[in-house]
Amino acid sequence: MSADKILIHFNQIFNPYDLGHPLSGSDMNDAQIIEDGYIAIKDGKILALGSGEPDDKLKDEHTEIIDYSGKIALPGFIDCHTHLIYGGSREHEFAQKLNGVSYLEILEQGGGILSTVRSTREADFDNLYNKSKRLLDYMVRYGVTTVEAKSGYGLDWETEKRQLEVCKKLNEDHTIDLVSTFMAAHAVPPEYKGKSGEFIDMIINDMLPKVKEENLAEFCDIFCEKNVFTAEESEKLLSAAKDLGFKLRIHADEIESIGGVDVAAKLKTTSAEHLMMITDEGIKKMAESQVIGDLLPATTFSLMQDTYAPARKMIEAGVPITLSTDCNPGSCPTINIQFVAQLGCYQMRLTPIEVFNAITINAAYAVDRADQIGNFDVEKQADITIMDCPNVDYSIYFFATNLVSDVYKNGQHVVVDGQIQA
Ligand code: NIG
Ligand code: FE
Repeated sequence: MSADKILIHFNQIFNPYDLGHPLSGSDMNDAQIIEDGYIAIKDGKILALGSGEPDDKLKDEHTEIIDYSGKIALPGFIDCHTHLIYGGSREHEFAQKLNGVSYLEILEQGGGILSTVRSTREADFDNLYNKSKRLLDYMVRYGVTTVEAKSGYGLDWETEKRQLEVCKKLNEDHTIDLVSTFMAAHAVPPEYKGKSGEFIDMIINDMLPKVKEENLAEFCDIFCEKNVFTAEESEKLLSAAKDLGFKLRIHADEIESIGGVDVAAKLKTTSAEHLMMITDEGIKKMAESQVIGDLLPATTFSLMQDTYAPARKMIEAGVPITLSTDCNPGSCPTINIQFVAQLGCYQMRLTPIEVFNAITINAAYAVDRADQIGNFDVEKQADITIMDCPNVDYSIYFFATNLVSDVYKNGQHVVVDGQIQA
């Protein structure tokens, strides 16, 4: 069968192995690396992959051939944890942060997430849509082709619904595919101050069924943290969500370890996220249950902390790992997944192969899309990120610079020489 397009002469193609489950242990440090590689695309999907001159059978007079000598190709990056849709911004908290006021102290004073809740409640649909679209435009230029996006800056039905509807519309309109997560349990709103249990009951009884009915989210998430939601509350909410058919994720062990990982292991959530403070016992439980550990090193960086999640230890214990930005206006104002991958190596001592597996094939499992994306298996979507560098190691070594030159989404050339195509 002949291809619509063949991208040829890549210095390297990085192709993760899809073993039918997220990679863990030594498998995380293994990938197919093709020198002088080509990728053939047909109907937006991968048709063939190889080295040297593509077989004549792949070409006819309509096949477009594009030369990428000197560059590398990787599967489109998947940012599997973001709080993309929000009103306002929080640079006014930066001085407090510099003065050593902690994240939870700022939240206790009514700032932090609650400050963004106020701005998001005030923002209308168009404001939220345009703001998030702008972030997605940056993301695609940084090589991202799929994004998970959480609600959680409304904490009331009207605003949570608006966030989820913005997510749905962006998924329809934007090049990037979005995976929607309902996270009303992100903070206790002022109306429920001191009554977190009642707030959880309200989410279970009022909001969850409506989110399901209107098909506004695929996953449900909760911030299990000291002074936010307890492990018991997390288990109650996530169990109810599971019964309604939601897939599950949980913010656990981010600032203090209060039992979120036990809930993740018990309910077999798809992932547990952050894990900066995970214990050895917690690591063991995650390995046993094969819950994906989604790590967010740019959050540690942005919170100016020294304690990165123990990624090496987790991999050695057999926990499948992903990395993601956590893009949000407070604890991690960035969209730069390349910088996240670099922090994975520079601060967590992962290898380049481990970090790229983390943000491609494992992230595909973390958003439950591995049948369509995450590597270049034939018939998967032709989501391709092209970097202007000679090899995979260079793309980590030369840090904090956007090296992505071109992006293909479903076989369409959506970023050309750094520019988004209209
Ligand atoms: O993942 N931890 C909770 N939620 C976000 C931060 C949200 C915010 O500060 O606005 C996080 O770090
Ligand atoms: Fe988060």
